[in-house]
Amino acid sequence: MPRIYIETYGCQMNVSDSELMLGVLRREGYVRTDDPAQADVVLVNTCAVRDHAEQKVLSRVGELKRLKRPGGVLGVAGCMAQRLGPRLLERVPQIDLVVGPDGYRGLPELIARARAGERTADVMFKHWEHYEDVPPVRGDAVSAFVTVQRGCDYRCTFCIVPMTRGAERSRKLADVVREVTDLARGGTTEVTLLGQTVNSYDDGTHDFADLLRAVGGIPGVRRLRFTSPYPTDFTERAVAAMAETPALCEHVHLPVQSGSSRVLKRMLRRYDRERYLDVVAALRRAVPGIALTTDIIVGFPGETEHDFQETLSLVEVVGFDDAYTFKYSRREATPATRLKDPVPDAVAGERLERLVAAVRGIARRRNVALVGSTHEVLVEGRAKRGELLQGRTRTNKVALLAGPDAWIGGYRDVRFTGTTGSTFTAVPLGHVLGGELAVVG
Ligand code: 5AD
Repeated sequence: MPRIYIETYGCQMNVSDSELMLGVLRREGYVRTDDPAQADVVLVNTCAVRDHAEQKVLSRVGELKRLKRPGGVLGVAGCMAQRLGPRLLERVPQIDLVVGPDGYRGLPELIARARAGERTADVMFKHWEHYEDVPPVRGDAVSAFVTVQRGCDYRCTFCIVPMTRGAERSRKLADVVREVTDLARGGTTEVTLLGQTVNSYDDGTHDFADLLRAVGGIPGVRRLRFTSPYPTDFTERAVAAMAETPALCEHVHLPVQSGSSRVLKRMLRRYDRERYLDVVAALRRAVPGIALTTDIIVGFPGETEHDFQETLSLVEVVGFDDAYTFKYSRREATPATRLKDPVPDAVAGERLERLVAAVRGIARRRNVALVGSTHEVLVEGRAKRGELLQGRTRTNKVALLAGPDAWIGGYRDVRFTGTTGSTFTAVPLGHVLGGELAVVG
């Protein structure tokens, strides 16, 4: 049986797309291997959002090409593949195929052509493509990513994604419900709905509110998440659906990008600072105890120290539980490349450091306040280092606890006993340790 090795970079959608690629190839008899040196086909699923992500992939491809077996195939998939297309084939002679996010159905043919000595780049957009007939090969039985929407119709001036993933389209609600129902029957209890602007979901008949209620109502779905929403695409209906869907977890990742209305306008974000804060307030009213995380870019062209101060103050006002922070990375052919007043790299770097410190400080304050509180965690597995199990709360906080392997994949009530500032130590509630009750009321 031919062996496939696949390595995934970037966002959750890429993780989900890699599961689709494995699904396409399983139909052809492929089995998965964890060792690229043993693989007949090696695929790298890439990200193009920042230059750093692309450089990392290029150096990794440099390593993988040396492991290539005689007759083996090395392919690059995903957003960087879509962005560079045939240019990648020119640049790295050992790459046999390049395939964008809409071309995965054609992988068997592209591989066959590569074997025949033909190097191909398939970067055609297919507006209808949802891979509806392809059962993804998922790694984890308990938690599943389910893509409900592909592409993006927004035109944020910094962002390459509309150029790599094409136009927005939503899967039919009934198809999503069927997939999640099957997953739940197989033991999946946590589902994360994925889309570039997932809350603009619209299948022609049903909106995001319908989607949340429908998926949240499937028996066996205990935790429902979604990512990433666009701040101003939450309708009142969607917020009400969030409030009234018990499975919906108390965490939303809500990318703000900047706290300055002036910068937001230049980014072509469709909200200003006040509007974003209104959305935060609406979510907090609807979902008590909701944790909020975000994405922030510093050093966007024209960003002044005053603009940056606005970002620092927004971080403080919202009190994010965590934030992914990035230095602006200029992406070829995006609208922002035409903006004047680039921020010098050293200035952007220094702002990033100040922002990271602010985010950490605020997260630490929030987390210290949570020590002593009780939470339900889904036990995901053993923590990377040490003996402890790693669990996750509905608010997406990571907690480490002692316990047997038998707990993996299940839910436990725990009490937080300490925090590093970002993650927690915890003990199971009512669990007897060494003959003593470890937790006292
Ligand atoms: N430079 C830096 N960060 C970017 N992001 C998207 N495009 C860029 C860019 N050109 C960030 C945004 C987005 C996250 C996925 O990546 O914050 O929300």
